[in-house]
Amino acid sequence: MSFKSEINRRRTFGIISHPDAGKTTLTEKLLLFGGAIQEAGAVKSNKIKKGATSDFMEIERQRGISVATSVLAFEYDGIKINILDTPGHKDFAEDTFRTLTAVDSVIVVIDVAKGVEQQTEKLVEVCRMRNIPMIVFINKMDREGKDAFDLLDEIEQKLGLNVVPLSFPIGMGYDFKGIYNLWEQNINLFSGSSRKNIEETIEISDLKSEKLDTLLGTKAAKTLREEIELVEGIYPKFNREAYLKSEQQPVFFGSALNNFGVRELLDCFVEIAPKPRPKRSEERLVNPDEKEFTGFVFKIHANMDPNHRDRLAFVKIVSGEFKRNTPYLHVRNDKKMKFSSPNAFFAEKKEIVDISYPGDIVGLHDTGNFKIGDTLTEGETINYKGVPSFSPEHFRYINNADPMKSKQLNKGIDQLMDEGVAQLFTLELNGRKVIGTVGALQYEVIQYRLEHEYGAKCTYENLNVHKACWVEAKDSKSEEFLEFLRVKQRFLAKDKQDQLVFLADSPFSLQMTQQKYPNIKFHFTSEFEDAY
Ligand code: G4P
Repeated sequence: MSFKSEINRRRTFGIISHPDAGKTTLTEKLLLFGGAIQEAGAVKSNKIKKGATSDFMEIERQRGISVATSVLAFEYDGIKINILDTPGHKDFAEDTFRTLTAVDSVIVVIDVAKGVEQQTEKLVEVCRMRNIPMIVFINKMDREGKDAFDLLDEIEQKLGLNVVPLSFPIGMGYDFKGIYNLWEQNINLFSGSSRKNIEETIEISDLKSEKLDTLLGTKAAKTLREEIELVEGIYPKFNREAYLKSEQQPVFFGSALNNFGVRELLDCFVEIAPKPRPKRSEERLVNPDEKEFTGFVFKIHANMDPNHRDRLAFVKIVSGEFKRNTPYLHVRNDKKMKFSSPNAFFAEKKEIVDISYPGDIVGLHDTGNFKIGDTLTEGETINYKGVPSFSPEHFRYINNADPMKSKQLNKGIDQLMDEGVAQLFTLELNGRKVIGTVGALQYEVIQYRLEHEYGAKCTYENLNVHKACWVEAKDSKSEEFLEFLRVKQRFLAKDKQDQLVFLADSPFSLQMTQQKYPNIKFHFTSEFEDAY
């Protein structure tokens, strides 16, 4: 197969949802369709169990298992599908944000009864900011839930999406009869007494047909006709270009658990979802079909097992072919590196591969050379953008509890931050170190790992910070900026990239500061562009 055909047949995406909406179940059903797994339940181990928050070792153990399911690859209809796992647990939201830099599209799963939930809002916002094409799957139609039109409204309002239903439910919960597929113009009936995994597809190109009354009963058929008329009146026609530009989001209804509506979703997905997309680097836009290999690290997974202390760096291939045992340039270190055993991921296993293509993910064994966001190339100096840090939610001073081990502590902190476990800020005023995290759980993880992997001990001290804002000055020599530096010195810090950060202690003080210094921009992410 030619290089171009290899690229064209790849679809790399992530499934995002609020925990419990059905992401794992849907993933599993997609894998079953692809023949990648033989039985349901195979991916379950990936999930961080409810109530596990107090036991981070258990979470880490499960995260360990999840290395194998970090990327789930399978073939469907000649298409190579790579599903990138996005942890649903909110304490690992940062991992999910980073994974979203490596996907070409996403499927958003929403629970029909719960509607749009908090975690979905956050994740969709990130996708919107990056113009990532999204398909929405409304799950659990076998249960009582919200009215379909109300839910579509809610999605538009809360998530800021422009939805286009490509399927529509016939009834719901106890009365759920099936789905009218606007995309394929057919009806899927949910039948059988057990109502499990039984599916019948009936072509129905004309909704006026009497066949519909026979199938659904007169009342349900009438309701469906009215609803579809309404759908066609309210929502625009599906336009693939608009979807690819993230201006329009197709919606499917179904029940992942009952395997209902999943094939329709998958069939439409392989037809409309984008192949690997060009990616911006600081220097230029890189196209997937360029001959020379380039890629970037979006995730690093450390092994918690003390006998196998290696890390696995996940690299998304942006352009060219990645080949085993070939020297590539690690741009940040300006060093050539060869990889003798790059891993490719399949449904339940990883294997050493000789060659990978744009859209694919390879796992590289790492002894501490990589950090999140690093770029690999065949020689060109390219730095991929777009693996930003987000403002953490929690902030604490970190103190050295064993003065004899300060070297170990610093090394440990340094490496854990490179892995993206948390963020480090160094206060301008006194050089004290502050650790910022998305979830409180990470503090335990850091403390444990510093002790067990680096032989260092630490303690924490609370610090009242509302948000970390990356500071951008229109003119860094202006009187206004110099005054800001002077007056706010107590609240200023540098992140690990030496970027200036303002640690606002309350929403009010942030607002006041913004008003007082109108020519200074305060960003909630570490990467920003064209603000001026
Ligand atoms: P997540 O990865 O998004 O967190 O969700 P997951 O797939 O684990 O699903 C959460 C719960 O919702 C599971 O039940 C799952 O069986 C159920 N579920 C998923 N899809 C459907 C659906 O279409 N209909 C119905 N009725 N339920 C669905 P659980 O009891 O928490 O777990 P389990 O014991 O069944 O594994």
